[in-house]
This record gives sequence, structure tokens and C-alpha cells, in this order.
Amino acid sequence: MITLKSQREIEMMKKAGELLADTHHQIAKMIQPGITTWEIEEFVDQYLKEHGATPEQKGYQGYQFATCASINDEICHGFPRKEPLQEGDIVTIDMVVNLNGALADSAWSYPVGKVSPLTQKLLDVTKESLYKGIEQVKIGNRIGDIGHAIQTYVEAQGFSVVRNFIGHGIGPSIHEKPEVPHYGLPHKGPRIKEGMVFTIEPMVNIGGYETKMDNNGWTARTRDGSLSAQYEHTVAVTKDGIIITTDQDYKK
Ligand code: MF3
Ligand code: CO
Repeated sequence: MITLKSQREIEMMKKAGELLADTHHQIAKMIQPGITTWEIEEFVDQYLKEHGATPEQKGYQGYQFATCASINDEICHGFPRKEPLQEGDIVTIDMVVNLNGALADSAWSYPVGKVSPLTQKLLDVTKESLYKGIEQVKIGNRIGDIGHAIQTYVEAQGFSVVRNFIGHGIGPSIHEKPEVPHYGLPHKGPRIKEGMVFTIEPMVNIGGYETKMDNNGWTARTRDGSLSAQYEHTVAVTKDGIIITTDQDYKK
């Protein structure tokens, strides 16, 4: 069942999203060769606490960290760790903020120092694909229109879209209906309605879309070892248009 959120709930989710966006801004300033994702994890844990929020991922289905930190060929759900990031790496930081019971979910990929032109293209295409998906979020469109727009764009750029992990409805729990694939056919899936809140979070690989799972049972990597990037926003559908609750004004 897809639960529709009231204006009041969306207002609260927007506040959670503002804090999440602010946290990403802080992280952006920290990322440089030599820093570890463990330092980012500790920063996020502390920063959310200071702002009266909690990291919703910690304890979620046994996940132990406030952030997911996925480096290079890791697609998602990488564990924060004490391994310094190196010049040329990319790292995706994903987190869910709970502020007064309202949730926001957003992931952002960051270049570490100077990256190769191909790596930069992966980052640019992945971010642009998120906004191509968001453009399809309109009352009356269908969820399938989102994935179709993302897949069409990404494949035209020569990259591939991960199938095994998808966007999702959100609030009060992390994963709700609808499922939001980042691939597929237009005019399919549930109709987009006022009050829906969901994530769009394309994971894009330079090589093939196939994944493999690490022994830790969480971290997914590209099967061919190619780089993977991800950008994720939480979007709310209101009668006056859509709200990107986690908007960081990074658009373009
Ligand atoms: N933020 C993730 C998402 O986009 C959810 C992470 S699940 C967790 O769906 F267990 F890792 F927290
Ligand atoms: Co997320």
C-alpha cells in the first residue's frame, strides 16, 4: 500500500531534508586525500546529535553505522572504515536523517582530489540522470516514467544502470511502497499522486550493471570491478508541484 503524506508530514520531512543537505555540505568540505570514511561517520553521528536528529540507518535491519560509504567499485552499503581515501577515488556517502520522527534520505558521490576525465563523466552523468528522473515526477505520470528517463539517458552516455537496488517510498519507515526502479518502461507502474514521498537514487556503473555481494552481507560491488556512482534525493509530490526535500542547491 502506498501511504500518502499530509502537508504537515511533508513540512516535517522537509526540515529533516534541510538538515541532511546541510550535513552533505559539511561532508563536501571534509573530503580530500587522506581522510577516512570512519572520520566522516563520526562527524555525521555527532553533527546529527547536535542538531536534535538521529541517524535512522544505525540499527536498521542490523546495519551498524550512521552512513553508508561506498568507494570506487562499491555500489552501495559500503561500511565506513579507517582506510584513507586516495587521490582519484570516488566515494558515495548515503544517510537517512530522522528529525522528530520525519525522515529524509540522500546519497551523494564525491571526487577525492583530482579524478580522471572518465570518472568525472561518470559523476556528471549519474547526477544528471537523477534530475532527468525528477523531471518525470508529476501528478498523473507513472512511476515507470522515472526509471525509463534515467535508463534512456544513462545508456545513451555509454554507462549502465544498476537493477538490483531501487528507490522507495519513505516515512515513517525507511522503505515503503512504491518501488522506484531506475530502469524500465514508460507508462508503467503506479500513478504519481499528491502526498507521495519517495526516493530516486540511480546507481550508475561505467561497465556492466551486474552486482556481487561482499562477505559482510551488505556491501554490493560491480561484478566487473568498474566504478559506480550514485546520487539520491527524497522528493515529495504536493498540489503545488514537487519538493526535493534534500535539495542542496548543487543542481547543475
Ligand atoms: N539510504 C539507503 C537507501 O537509499 C538505505 C540504507 S539501508 C541501510 O535506500 F540499512 F543501509 F541503512
Ligand atoms: Co539512501
